[in-house]
Amino acid sequence: MSDNIESTLTETRHFAPSAEFTENARLKPADLEALHQKAEADYEGFWCDLAREKIDWQTEFTQGLDESKAPHYQWFADGRMNVSYNCIDRHLEVRGNKTAIVFEAENGDTRHLTYRDLYNEVGKLANALKGMGVVKGDRVIIYMPMNAEAVIAMQACARIGAIHSVVFGGFSADALRDRVVDSGSKVVITADGGERGGKVVGLKANVDKALDSNPGDVEKVVVCKRAGNDVTMHADRDVWWEDAVDGESVDCEPEWVEAEHPLFLLYTSGSTGKPKGIQHSSAGYLLGAIVTNEWVFDLQGDDVYWCTADVGWITGHTYVAYGPLAVGATQVVYEGTPTVPDAGRWWKMCQDHGVTVFYTAPTAIRALMKAGPDLPKQYDLSKLRLLGTVGEPINPEAWMWYYTTVGEERCPIVDTWWQTETGANMIAPIPGATTLVPGSCTQALPGIAADVVDEDGKSLGADEGGYLVIKKPWPHMLRTVWGDDQRYKDTYWPKFGGKYYLAGDSARRDSEGNFWIMGRIDDVLNVSGHRMGTMEVESALVAHKAVAEAAVVGRPHDVKGEAIVAFVILQGDRLTGDEAEEMVKELRNWVADQIGPIAKPDDIRFADGLPKTRSGKIMRRLLRSIAKGEEITSDTSTLENEAVIPQLQGKA
Ligand code: PRX
Repeated sequence: MSDNIESTLTETRHFAPSAEFTENARLKPADLEALHQKAEADYEGFWCDLAREKIDWQTEFTQGLDESKAPHYQWFADGRMNVSYNCIDRHLEVRGNKTAIVFEAENGDTRHLTYRDLYNEVGKLANALKGMGVVKGDRVIIYMPMNAEAVIAMQACARIGAIHSVVFGGFSADALRDRVVDSGSKVVITADGGERGGKVVGLKANVDKALDSNPGDVEKVVVCKRAGNDVTMHADRDVWWEDAVDGESVDCEPEWVEAEHPLFLLYTSGSTGKPKGIQHSSAGYLLGAIVTNEWVFDLQGDDVYWCTADVGWITGHTYVAYGPLAVGATQVVYEGTPTVPDAGRWWKMCQDHGVTVFYTAPTAIRALMKAGPDLPKQYDLSKLRLLGTVGEPINPEAWMWYYTTVGEERCPIVDTWWQTETGANMIAPIPGATTLVPGSCTQALPGIAADVVDEDGKSLGADEGGYLVIKKPWPHMLRTVWGDDQRYKDTYWPKFGGKYYLAGDSARRDSEGNFWIMGRIDDVLNVSGHRMGTMEVESALVAHKAVAEAAVVGRPHDVKGEAIVAFVILQGDRLTGDEAEEMVKELRNWVADQIGPIAKPDDIRFADGLPKTRSGKIMRRLLRSIAKGEEITSDTSTLENEAVIPQLQGKA
């Protein structure tokens, strides 16, 4: 990825919004300026006014920001509301018959759900969950394909105040079990299987595997019929979704929860230990989802929005399951791969459904650009008016292709920087007001105090690289790490006297004040826009009986951003030739079983030892150079075991 950064350092192209876009945009330059001024003059009042305007409250709040438990900040704490009510019920009168979700399956089957349909489906499932004894505060795991039912399940939990934790359908049974146990979930909602690339992924079978060895607190498993594959149903535990909702009323009175009531947990990787359950609030989170969908995606009445993210990631929470519904938009949901039957699938879908606002990740753009650079031209993309990206810095080449070939030089691109922890976009262009520079996420949104600082917390000048921090608590920030307040403090507030939120990214600002994200400061990899802790992959590798020690690093990859390279020391002798090849295959599959296919190392190298200093510390910087295939020019004579270097380089 650093190569991309290098090329963006010299980027000078600027793209100002067209007069036509600005004319029709929700926020014009003067509106944006006014928002910034208001946020600066009265930070708390700014957010409180928005919270009153954008959210329907059952009980109005009187408190804005409460810092008494810092860094566990609270917002609007004495107010009561319900997220599902705000996403569905409040639209029924004016747009009950408007399409909320257009669902398309990989085989082309399409289904439209109106806001009224959504109300009915969510109400029935919410009542069924209540019937199973799920009450406010109980945790529910959702392990589903990317279909409308996944969104319905999330909304049903929100409706009754249950805290959902969505586990990406690509994660393995082991990863699922860890999350079931850590969250203490009572119910798992899953499907028989999901379809991807024409193959069926046995989701229910994975749930069985996870629960058979350690059921944790799980009492019930709800199974949605989707792929039609054979599954085993456990008599007292498992129930088909359609049987569970049969006879249930569509009306389910929302549980009016406190603003701070946890809406969901979402597990994400860090540099140490197992993934942590990032805990988000109800009202503050929803406010972030609403304002960013309005400001950054400019969502308006007749837009057809499509965010391609899976609900297993934060983007699929804020820009699929909650935000677009809260603002009453029509959105596309697709279960399948972007290359079936060919790399024009997404562009065909944009044409067929008249998509106007499209949001995806740089890795997908690069893959589709490689697989079919001219395919967008075969489709009528004239309805598109705005494009977005998220997950990693976008290299200028991919940006330009997205801009010219997909967006036909008409659509602004919003490059949105944010994280699982931040809940919603934090640094991003406002499409009717901001001048775009390829590779930069441009400027902080109104009410977001982002800055780049040095080791002492001092703001840095133009083009000086440092820590990306947020200097004031914001409504949609994480509240804690589930069950581990200490880890929350240690991870996000370890510096600067505990006053600034440490994002874990390094960044710089240019002379125009635009932010450029330079990469992680910790051992977190960004593989196809997904976070992966090097330690997680290392732990998975050393859990294999043949492995004595392992070190994992990233190396730049043209499509995925970063690829995973593992240096492995086996028990016994180093393997070579066919035996080594067999072991590489076995270890890759092993990691896929332990975590999921996205964590499979791209490259595994065997050696007799890892390069260590005489005090026993693994020289990760050296491993990174080796992984990139760079010549080793630094002095390695201080290493305890210099002889392993040529082995790791594949030269001995
Ligand atoms: O390193 C940054 C990168 O992705 C990290 C957050 O990952 P995750 O929590 O999985 O959320 C991804 C989707 C919000 C960040 O710390 N990142 C995210 N967006 C960008 C980015 N890097 C550069 N530019 C972006 N637009």
